[in-house]
Amino acid sequence: MTEPRLLCLCGSLRKGSLNRKLMTVAAARFDGSFEEGDLRLPLYDGDLQEAQGLPEGVARLAAQISAADALLIACPEYNKAPPGLLKNALDWVSRAEGQVLEGKPVALVSATAGRAGGERTQSILRWMLQPLRAEVLTHPEVLVGPAADAFDASGALVSERFQKAVDALMARLTAAAREKQAR
Ligand SMILES: Cc1cc2nc3c(=O)[nH]c(=O)nc-3n(C[C@H](O)[C@H](O)[C@H](O)COP(=O)(O)O)c2cc1C
Repeated sequence: MTEPRLLCLCGSLRKGSLNRKLMTVAAARFDGSFEEGDLRLPLYDGDLQEAQGLPEGVARLAAQISAADALLIACPEYNKAPPGLLKNALDWVSRAEGQVLEGKPVALVSATAGRAGGERTQSILRWMLQPLRAEVLTHPEVLVGPAADAFDASGALVSERFQKAVDALMARLTAAAREKQAR
């Protein structure tokens, strides 16, 4: 069996993103290969799609999702909800040929300024993924907050508790990806 492939998506574009740091820490614990998808897509526009089909970036992202055995989504919390960047990407890929997210194991992680670590944003993201038929892992929840001091200079998680939760989640994601490969 080939090694499972993980596609990582980060809901923050900024260079110093804490969610990208968390995503990087988590992806390193996946037993397989990984790459990051680019969410810098145009805003969803039905006229654009009708005129020229899926934009190149959307087609690339949909193909990456399709080829992946599992997804890891790092989801910031903006006003208690996921950023528009992620919703836009999900709306676009839902217009691609076939159901690219159907049956795809997905793990969620989040890092926030607030103490709750993104509990509300993750819950809403779960609802957002439901119509796309993704199989979102339910536990353990990786909710890193307050995240400002959660990483050391090398990008590692300072707290053993958070690192253990990441390890357990990524072990489950690897197992789910292998199961999917075997189906
Ligand atoms: C528009 C906006 C809304 C935010 N709303 C929340 C919030 O509801 N809860 C929270 O804990 N942090 C909130 N924050 C702070 C973010 O958690 C913090 O900036 C975090 O570092 C953003 O993720 P990033 O580092 O991956 O870019 C908000 C930040 C922005 C820019």
